[in-house]
Formats: sequence, C-alpha cells, structure tokens
Amino acid sequence: MRVQVAIIGAGPAGLLLAQLLQRAGVEAIVLEQRSAEYVLGRIRAGVLEQASVDLLHEAGVGERLRREGLVHDGIELCFGGERHRVALRELTGGQCVTVYGQTEVTRDLMQALAASGARTVYEAQDVSLHDVDGDRPRVRYTKDGVPHELSCDFIAGCDGFHGVSRTCVPASVLRTFERVYPFGWLGVLCDTPPVSPELIYANHERGFALCSMRSRTRSRYYVQCSLDERVEDWSDERFFDELRARLDGPAASTLITGPSIEKSIAPLRSFVAEPMRFGRLFLAGDAAHIVPPTGAKGLNLAASDIRYLSRALIEYYRTGHEEGIDSYSARCLRRVWKAERFSWWMTSIMHRFPDTGAFGQRIQEAELAYLVGSRAASAALAENYVGLPFED
Ligand code: APR
Ligand code: PHB
Repeated sequence: MRVQVAIIGAGPAGLLLAQLLQRAGVEAIVLEQRSAEYVLGRIRAGVLEQASVDLLHEAGVGERLRREGLVHDGIELCFGGERHRVALRELTGGQCVTVYGQTEVTRDLMQALAASGARTVYEAQDVSLHDVDGDRPRVRYTKDGVPHELSCDFIAGCDGFHGVSRTCVPASVLRTFERVYPFGWLGVLCDTPPVSPELIYANHERGFALCSMRSRTRSRYYVQCSLDERVEDWSDERFFDELRARLDGPAASTLITGPSIEKSIAPLRSFVAEPMRFGRLFLAGDAAHIVPPTGAKGLNLAASDIRYLSRALIEYYRTGHEEGIDSYSARCLRRVWKAERFSWWMTSIMHRFPDTGAFGQRIQEAELAYLVGSRAASAALAENYVGLPFED
C-alpha cells in the first residue's frame, strides 16, 4: 500500500501530526504497537503552553479543551515553609498555561481522527523501517498475524523514547546527550479537589513535592523518591503523610485526601538525540528528547516539534519547497535545548540531591529566595514556563 506519510506511534506527537496532515489533505497512516485503550490508560503530563493550546485549536480539537481546560495565571513555589506566587501572566505580558490532561488531549485527537476516517492501525506488531535514506522509504508491520508493507514519501518517528525509529539512524550519524537523575517521582492521582487552585512546586529537606491537578475534582500529586522505592510499599496514607510533611502549614492542613486511582514511579532523565532528521525519517517528541517533568515541558516539546514538522510537510506537498524539511532538525533542536536547560535547572533547584548535602540545600534556598525577590529572575522563570517563542 502507498501513503504519503507513515507515522509511527499514536502518542500525542503522532496523533497530532496525523490530524494536522489530514486537515491539510496530506494522506497519513498511524501505526501503533499498543491498543487504543492502553494508550488512553497512561497517566502523563497535564500542563499546556499557549502555543500547544493554539496548535490543538488549529488541529480542530480545541472545543473540549476550551470548555474544560483550567487557565492558570500563576504557579507557587514553596520553600522554607512558605509559599511564594510567580505571577506568570503579569510577568510575561499576558501569557498563561492551561491545565488539561495528556490523556484528554489523546482522547480528543483519537476521536477527531476516527471521525475523519483517518487510518490508524492499533496493535501493529514488529514495525520496521526500510530505506529511510532513499527516495521511497518503506514500513513493514504485522497486524493479526498478517504481514503488511507501506511505501511512503516520509516517515515520522513519533514512537517515544523506547521506539524503533531512532534506532534506524546509523550510529555514525546519531549523537546522544543524556543525564540520568539519582531519584524518581512517585505520583498519585485521586478524585479529590486540588489543595490549591494553582500548582505548588515545593522544595523541602525531605525532597521535592508537587501539587497538580487534572480538574477541579481530580488532583495529581508527586513526591520525590529514591530509585529503589517500590510502589507496593507506598500506601495512600504513607504517601499523603509524606506529601504533607513537604508542604507549608496551611497547605498541609487543608489537603483533602482520598483513595488513589493511579500510583506509579517515574525515573527522571534528560536526553537529546541529534539530528532529528535522517534522510526521509523525522524524529519527533519523546523519540528525540526527554526532559525531567519539573518544567512541564515533555508534552509541549512534542507539540512544538509537530508544529514545525506539520508545517514543513504541508508546505512540501503544496509547493514542492523543501526549506521547512531541511531546517526541521536545527530549528527543533534550538527550542529543544532551551527547554532541556530550563527543565534541568528547575530540577536542580527543586530536588534533594544525595551528594550535595546541607550546603546544597542552603544554596537552593538562596536561589529560590533570589528568584521570588527579583522581578528579572521571576520573569525569566515565567517566560520559560509559559513557553519560549517559535522561530516562524
Ligand atoms: N511501533 C509502533 N508504536 C510504537 C513503537 C513501535 N516499535 N514503540 C513505541 N510505540 C508507541 C508507544 O506505544 C506510544 O503509544 O509510540 C507511542 C509514543 O508515545 P509517547 O511515549 O506518548 O511519546 P510522544 O507522542 O512523543 O509524546 C510525548 O508523552 O511521555 C510523554 O512526557 C511525555 O508528554 C510527553 C509526551
Ligand atoms: C502533572 O500535572 O502531571 C504535572 C504538572 C506539572 C509538572 C509535571 C507534571 O511540572
């Protein structure tokens, strides 16, 4: 079978690309190794930059987001037992973020794609890429035991960190950069009202904590944990005791707890693969880069790659111009590295590091005090948090 663009992976990157291409009349097919239910069952990020919101509107999937997304004009930093607000909107000349779960973004995209008759193959096994540096790349996969082959113009590798696409870039071309952090995040989702209307990022001697949410009745909380922790050892009670211990008095005493509906541990990693294009293969989203979640950039960077990639491919099919395609990797990487820097920095000032001791803790507190006391420093945080500008 022939298709213009083969997309590997039905995470937010792959689905958003498929939807944008479909609306522009470019034929695409998505190949996903898991079932749609499995993809929707993953609990992931929840904070959207305005540019991500705009792109979802452009993709025609902004309606529920407009109704149900929670617009946040600020975040709170908690340290030394007190909370300090960073007024995002005021510090950025009117920009904000929207809290709307990645699961909901995925659901909206899946529905829109299904309604438009776009082709998505779930449970596509043994996906393999061929001739990615030639004119006519091919993708092979197996569905229900039957082998298939797609011939295409381009392949979008949107298959996440553990996907197959990045492995198709020869070792002599691919360069990777990585930092693995010596801790993880233990996250809990529960149907209780959030402790505070805005997100609280807490630095505490016992470790980092984050109070986030999915809606006015659903909360998402995290505590920093060591990498050898096991979820089974964390009862809801133990989790909430630990969370309370890391928050300021008023937040700790007003926290409403309830039975968890999801509990998991995620490691923290920074990772970048360069280049993001090899021949007719483009890497996008987690396939090309990972950020620690502290800056809320993972999903937004996936959307930002797709913004560049969708425009490049649509321009190519409309006009034959290849500028967008040729500049894809370099343009993405400039924005990716700035988000990597921000995420690494947020991680480094908010977490307890095993090797820096009491000195490290005091340095962090001094940096946080400087941050909330200086308009320039707060503005730098705010403009990164709401999302840096694009080149076009
Ligand atoms: N063949 C087909 N599909 C694959 C393969 C494969 N060999 N390997 C992985 N996949 C699928 C996964 O099952 C997953 O559904 O690719 C998809 C990748 O989706 P994500 O991991 O969500 O990555 P991405 O779309 O880039 O989204 C990035 O997700 O992990 C969060 O924090 C991250 O918010 C960011 C966003
Ligand atoms: C989340 O709600 O899951 C979340 C919010 C902000 C972050 C990370 C995760 O920085």
